[in-house]
Amino acid sequence: MAAPAIDKDAPKICPVKPGDPNYLDEASLVYEDILANPEPYYEAMREHDPVHYDKKLQMWLITRYEDLQTVNADPNLYAVGAGYREQYSKGFFEEFKAILEKDGGGFFPDAIMSEPPYHTRIRRLIEGTFTAHKVKELEGRIRKVVVDLIDSFAGNGSCDAVRDFAIPVTIHVICEQLGISLYDAKKISRWSEAVTAQIGRMQNREQMIENARHICELQKYLINEMKDREANPKNDLISGIVHASVTHEDGTVEKLTFEEAVSIVRAVLIAGNDTTATALGNLAYLLATRPDLAEALYENVDDDRFVTRFVEEHLRRMPPIRGLSRLTMEDTVLNGKHLPKGSHLLNVYGSGNHDPQQFPDPLEFKMDRPNLGRHVVFGGGVHRCIGLALARMEVKIVAQELIRRVKDLRLAIDPGDIRYMPTVATQTIANLPVTFSRREG
Ligand code: HEM
Repeated sequence: MAAPAIDKDAPKICPVKPGDPNYLDEASLVYEDILANPEPYYEAMREHDPVHYDKKLQMWLITRYEDLQTVNADPNLYAVGAGYREQYSKGFFEEFKAILEKDGGGFFPDAIMSEPPYHTRIRRLIEGTFTAHKVKELEGRIRKVVVDLIDSFAGNGSCDAVRDFAIPVTIHVICEQLGISLYDAKKISRWSEAVTAQIGRMQNREQMIENARHICELQKYLINEMKDREANPKNDLISGIVHASVTHEDGTVEKLTFEEAVSIVRAVLIAGNDTTATALGNLAYLLATRPDLAEALYENVDDDRFVTRFVEEHLRRMPPIRGLSRLTMEDTVLNGKHLPKGSHLLNVYGSGNHDPQQFPDPLEFKMDRPNLGRHVVFGGGVHRCIGLALARMEVKIVAQELIRRVKDLRLAIDPGDIRYMPTVATQTIANLPVTFSRREG
């Protein structure tokens, strides 16, 4: 996923407040206080300027649900891959590529960050690996990983729900899904950072070289695992991707190239990481701040339909992804706004999920919404999240197993002191100190 980062040195406080006539002109997603509470900015844009140019971020922000649908319906006009490639390892691309070719088993462009018809071929080849049916086969193993982790800290009484819970759970689960035994959260986080830094535009040459070394290590590790699955297929995602194939009507069998397969395994490891950890950190926040909802979840924990709807509304109410980028390939007009060819857009899914035209009382937690699942938490169109069945299952298992084992979950800091990671891509709580007690019996 193309995930633009913001300037870490950007000012922290927006100079104007909602209600000031200059608010829309001056406000920006680069301000830390707006990143922490973007709702007033989203609302002002949706109401007064739904396709809004954020001067400091230098991107067009697409904030209405309907406009997000329009953008996602035309992936060749509003392209994912073109902008991604343009940003990739910017300023150092040739040197970066040479390091990977020399020491990392090769340079493998991201096959999924592309446009139809090439993208269609890739999705067709890998979709079978991510179906709800395949995901179901992993459920038992994932539940065991989650239960073991929660049991290991449930008696402690306090923890950082992001660092000690959401991140390790996600990394353990993704290793389980991929079928790798490397449960080294620090290493995987560092690899993840190195990969996302290539589109963040914030690395200098020294950092690029260091990041490239980490990516070499990551690729060599994955290639080893993939070679093993080529010879000995198992019931895991790596085997699914390595052996993915489509049989055509004339009997010919199509497969991913090895380069494509490496890039997909790498993308799955990275794409499923921050997003799902964010959803789990947000879940801890919800349960800690809404004891009424925590109680309702506990009382209905064995009711599959209840938990499914609970998770769906949680994801819409606190969507992990704020915004992901697009590049216009031609001059175009979107909701009356002229966008020249080469415009950088941000699909602000965070705002679309709270558009009152689609979801009345958008900030309320309402499990009885008739259109509960019609959110844009997982995007839309041809790039809609391929891991959504896995993500939903993981959040659901964690919600069930956490509420079965832990009670009286509360924040140990003032909600106003919560800090968010400095990125426009996700709305990720950085640290979440909480207290709780083990539920006996
Ligand atoms: C709660 C967790 C997750 C959220 C909120 C989420 C959200 C998204 C969104 C919004 C997109 C659309 C990208 C765009 O519009 O540019 C996307 C794409 C993608 N996601 Fe997820 N995701 C999650 C978990 C996962 C997991 C667990 C995996 C892998 C196992 C995954 C793999 C991918 C991939 C490979 C794409 C690119 C698809 C394409 O371009 O065809 N995601 N995700």
